[in-house]
Amino acid sequence: MGVKLTGAGSIGMMPSIFGPIAAMVAIHRVVCSRMPVRPSPLLEGLSGGGFSSGDRTGVAIVVGLALAGARVWSRGKGGKSVNLELFDLTGKVAIVTGGNGGLGLGMAMGLASAGANIVVASRNQEKTQQAVHKLEALGVKALGVSLDVLQPELVEACVQKTVDTFGGFDILVANSGTVVRKPPEELSIEEWDLVIDTNLKGTFLCCKAAFPHLVKRGGGKIITNGSMFSIFGSTVRSAYPSSKGGIVQLTKSLAVAWAKYNIQVNCIVPGWLKTELTKPVYEHPEMGPTILQRTPAGRWGNPDDMRGIAIFLASRAADFVTGQAIPVDGGFSVMGI
Ligand SMILES: NC(=O)c1ccc[n+]([C@@H]2O[C@H](COP(=O)([O-])OP(=O)(O)OC[C@H]3O[C@@H](n4cnc5c(N)ncnc54)[C@H](OP(=O)(O)O)[C@@H]3O)[C@@H](O)[C@H]2O)c1
Repeated sequence: MGVKLTGAGSIGMMPSIFGPIAAMVAIHRVVCSRMPVRPSPLLEGLSGGGFSSGDRTGVAIVVGLALAGARVWSRGKGGKSVNLELFDLTGKVAIVTGGNGGLGLGMAMGLASAGANIVVASRNQEKTQQAVHKLEALGVKALGVSLDVLQPELVEACVQKTVDTFGGFDILVANSGTVVRKPPEELSIEEWDLVIDTNLKGTFLCCKAAFPHLVKRGGGKIITNGSMFSIFGSTVRSAYPSSKGGIVQLTKSLAVAWAKYNIQVNCIVPGWLKTELTKPVYEHPEMGPTILQRTPAGRWGNPDDMRGIAIFLASRAADFVTGQAIPVDGGFSVMGI
């Protein structure tokens, strides 16, 4: 099932989901009939006695139901309850700019797996439709919208199309980005503008367009996308680190300005993950291995690595987290020599 709840002992569920409980109890009884088990008082009570929990299969069934939207509490070894509903995004709507591939699609898949409906907003409509199909296969609604973040009117149109289709939205992932790799002395003004306008101004425009709609919803979550170049400089990139450093500062400013509207704004700071954007780097005979060797986790990341952090930052679990820049980098940013 792909989900493991380490240390789970006894499990309890809210009385509002007696249907799923009955199904779970029936399945669990069959599964547990041949296993050494430990009593679960709450389930035993709900099932009329004679029912036990404590095996991993049973835990996996309950986690499956939790991911399907049921309200589930798990009692760990320390006796503390974990409310998985905190991460449930069922009924939420998320716009993911640049959601048609790479890290954007990785985050979109994460949000959809937690129940959110997704608007994929990018320029390439063929890729966008492919992403829409992948998301729909997870059982959520997905909509492809044409967006070029360099054009403010298209940003507004994308937000409006989302509102017209879904009645509003709760989450913005401002992820679209581009890079030009050249020494600073060779970078043209046009190239500088392209990178700064796509990454920094584009992020600002999307956040600004989202703001009134999130306010109408009583709050929401904005996730921006930084980079290791939010922290480090580069000999062959100057506009890109400037834009990504700016995104972290923009994130902090939006976070403090919009906290009173119950809007949390956080920035993910990815390390080196394999996408179209980084292909010239990971396929490079020297740079690819150098990055691998400098990454404590011992591997390049991939778009799936973005799922968990996206779910967390988009969920109620992050209601008191705002203005933060959180690395997802296998330890790259904390590696000394
Ligand atoms: N991969 C990494 O290791 C890494 C590390 C740190 C940060 N990032 C950041 O992650 C984000 C996604 O990059 P990626 O690595 O996933 O590369 P990618 O696969 O090339 O994704 C870039 C995305 O941005 C979209 N985009 C580019 N220009 C746009 C524009 N003007 N308007 C709207 N959308 C635009 C692209 O879609 P269309 O071309 O269809 O518009 C595409 O979906 C970027 O912000 C990048 O800086 C990546």
